[in-house]
Amino acid sequence: MAKEYGHYDDAAREYVITDPCTPWPWINYLGTEDFFGLISNTAGGYSFCKDARFRRITRYRYNGVPMDAGGRYFYIKDGDTVWNPGWKPCKTPLDFYECRHGMNYTSIEGRKDGITAKVLFFVPLKTWAEVQKLTLTNTTDVVKKLKLFSFQEWCLWNASTDMENFQRNFSTGEVEIDGSVIYHKTEYKERRNHYAYYSVNVPVQGFDTDRESFLGLYNGFDAPQVVLEGKPRGSVAHGWSPIASHYLEIELKPGESRDLIFILGYVENAQDDKWESKGVINKRMARETMSRLDTPVKVDAEFRKLNEYWDNLLSIFNVESGDERMDRTVNIWNQYQCMITFCFSRSASFFESGIGRGMGFRDSNQDLIGFVHQIPERARERIIDIASTQFADGGCYHQYQPLTKRGNDGIGGGFNDDPMWLIFGVCGYLRETGDFSILDEPVPFDNVPGSEKSLFEHLTISFDHVINNLGPHGLPLIGRADWNDCLNLNCFSNDPDESFQTTENKTEGSKAESLMIAGLFVFSGRDYVELCRQLGKNAEADRAQRHIDDMIAAVEKYGWDGNWFLRAYDYYGRKVGSHENEEGQIFIESNGWCAMAGIGLKEGLCDKALDSVKERLDSEHGIVLNNPAFTRYYIEYGEISSYPAGYKENAGIFCHNNPWVMIGETVRGNGKAAMEYWRKICPAYIEDQTLHKVEPYVYSQMLAGKDAFRPGEGKNSWLTGTAAWNWYTNTQFILGIKPTYNGLEIDPCISPDMKEYKITRKFRGATYQIEIKNPNGSMRGIKSLIVEGKEITGNLIPLFAEGSKVHVTAILQ
Ligand code: BGC
Ligand code: NOJ
Repeated sequence: MAKEYGHYDDAAREYVITDPCTPWPWINYLGTEDFFGLISNTAGGYSFCKDARFRRITRYRYNGVPMDAGGRYFYIKDGDTVWNPGWKPCKTPLDFYECRHGMNYTSIEGRKDGITAKVLFFVPLKTWAEVQKLTLTNTTDVVKKLKLFSFQEWCLWNASTDMENFQRNFSTGEVEIDGSVIYHKTEYKERRNHYAYYSVNVPVQGFDTDRESFLGLYNGFDAPQVVLEGKPRGSVAHGWSPIASHYLEIELKPGESRDLIFILGYVENAQDDKWESKGVINKRMARETMSRLDTPVKVDAEFRKLNEYWDNLLSIFNVESGDERMDRTVNIWNQYQCMITFCFSRSASFFESGIGRGMGFRDSNQDLIGFVHQIPERARERIIDIASTQFADGGCYHQYQPLTKRGNDGIGGGFNDDPMWLIFGVCGYLRETGDFSILDEPVPFDNVPGSEKSLFEHLTISFDHVINNLGPHGLPLIGRADWNDCLNLNCFSNDPDESFQTTENKTEGSKAESLMIAGLFVFSGRDYVELCRQLGKNAEADRAQRHIDDMIAAVEKYGWDGNWFLRAYDYYGRKVGSHENEEGQIFIESNGWCAMAGIGLKEGLCDKALDSVKERLDSEHGIVLNNPAFTRYYIEYGEISSYPAGYKENAGIFCHNNPWVMIGETVRGNGKAAMEYWRKICPAYIEDQTLHKVEPYVYSQMLAGKDAFRPGEGKNSWLTGTAAWNWYTNTQFILGIKPTYNGLEIDPCISPDMKEYKITRKFRGATYQIEIKNPNGSMRGIKSLIVEGKEITGNLIPLFAEGSKVHVTAILQ
């Protein structure tokens, strides 16, 4: 039996970690809106408000030694023993350790020598503060006298310059101390209108705010000088590294328990309301927040509200499949991860520093299909934000900054798949909500006031961007790259100091075309056609359909390699992803997308392509991106060939794109294959936690592929389109509950051994209780559909009035 570090507690919707030495920090996210935190199973991590780069509240050291240093630490000094409830940083052996990661909260409990310390971390709804409720219990039969030190290290706001501009940083730090509250006000007196604070709801017996005084210059977090001495110094930071540490002397009678409430908060003041008196910051809002949260009763009520918020979010789609691993994935963790990608896109994780990338255009559109059923209003807002970064010619900024919502000039545009994702995202939104009013919203180009066109026109322009940029074979020109950021066919970089992502591209005169965009264009182009028909724009629908037909013809003529779809044509017009190539003969993206789009389904091309994927790309841990892996650098392919074989885009199992093949399998009706692929990469089914390494409750962007040193090892967990794609694939194409403009379509494509399952789905205000029966072990095809006791023809449940409860039974052939 492989070693286990924890287990699921489905009833509580928690993952329970029982060994602090996980193979990698296993983290969770706090916060639902604006105020966020990342927290590891040993209380490491950091907090920020709105923007992980520009409004970083606490400092974090990336890629440090040891790993995951810095966080929300409580030091308990009991006699000569110093320990932390989360084991780190002191690493004093505990008598008991448990970390429970739940829906936007984490609780960490440690026990040592008869003292139990349990900390609940969460961010109350609509609050710019993180609560840390520490409960100390004396389980012995003697009186215990403890010394408690809290600890947070402030970041000097800009997480990027905080790590590099020391000639300035070391002279800027400023704090204010007011009773039990430590305020961090660096740069507040000049251009900033915001400060942070760290408080506790009881009087303190001392404090420290200067890191060097607290730790001692030669000590780490594991041995703070002040804690070892058992005496705070009352240090006041002037420059250097400001911190916040409270000191409390606590006496606990036998059996006594005490709650202490620590608040890490953030405030923005109006420019003319910054000061209480000369040099003294205006603390009104901080005080308001603290007084809302100063008793356990108030905190518990806020915690219940957070739980109810999640009860509600998770009540929209629920499956009872008889397979607990599927149920916990669908009902809890996959939906949770989708909400996390909504909040963070690809910005802040233990693999993303929160500094580099803002929100991705394609990423955010794809993420949308994972959370639109939960928070449609916020999805609407997101769509408008994304579309506002499009250019008038249909091209798009590849990324934008969440704080400013402006396109990111550093990376610019030119990724020719981007425009089609807007159609993909918007249609996903419309099918879920039926809110066609969004199409009339005036949306600017590149955020320029006065340039507004309706969102619908943005969709038309997106569609046309592909047909205005066709290459010599009538296939879409790839531009800087398509979905695969690392297939850089126009880059030709020989300079290790330039980024593959941003360097000048030789698109002028390039013949580089993408079969992935071709598949995407057919798949999402059909969505555009359907939408036009829905709106009665039949001429536009006909026009678009002709372009789709032309694209299908071009793919069949120039995109077929005999046994699979080519991946691309390169700059010179040579085949990429062909049996004629030496390496990289077959790729997942084009085969997935062309199969999803059903190109050549009748002629058997889809079947052949999917069989080839099975034969050449499938492996024990999932489907690799390409094969054979590249073993040398191909200047004409770029970053893809920069990775060692088996990692990332070079033949890694890029979990994001495995679902494209799963959907492809459902297009040909092979539910068994679709589900097998789904289970392979689904974290709830992964047995070997030591090999998998990263969190067992969320998808990672990548598992090392079959050519790698340790196939199956996970990396880049949490922030990946994998979450939304697996959600979309599993719920809509495998379990087969598809939102459409006119109702819920029931079209499962499952493994024959799945004999029945039940789904509760809230849709446009009605609740559908759907029972699917598969008495004959088939994979696809509804034989009968009974809605509210009446058999109906076809497989579409019509829309019911808001508030209705609708009983549905679907029987497969
Ligand atoms: C990574 C990609 C990522 C890209 C853009 C590359 O180095 O391999 O997965 O999308 O950078 O940040
Ligand atoms: C990660 C990026 O966020 C995403 O946009 C891209 O498609 C994949 N990497 C593949 O390169």
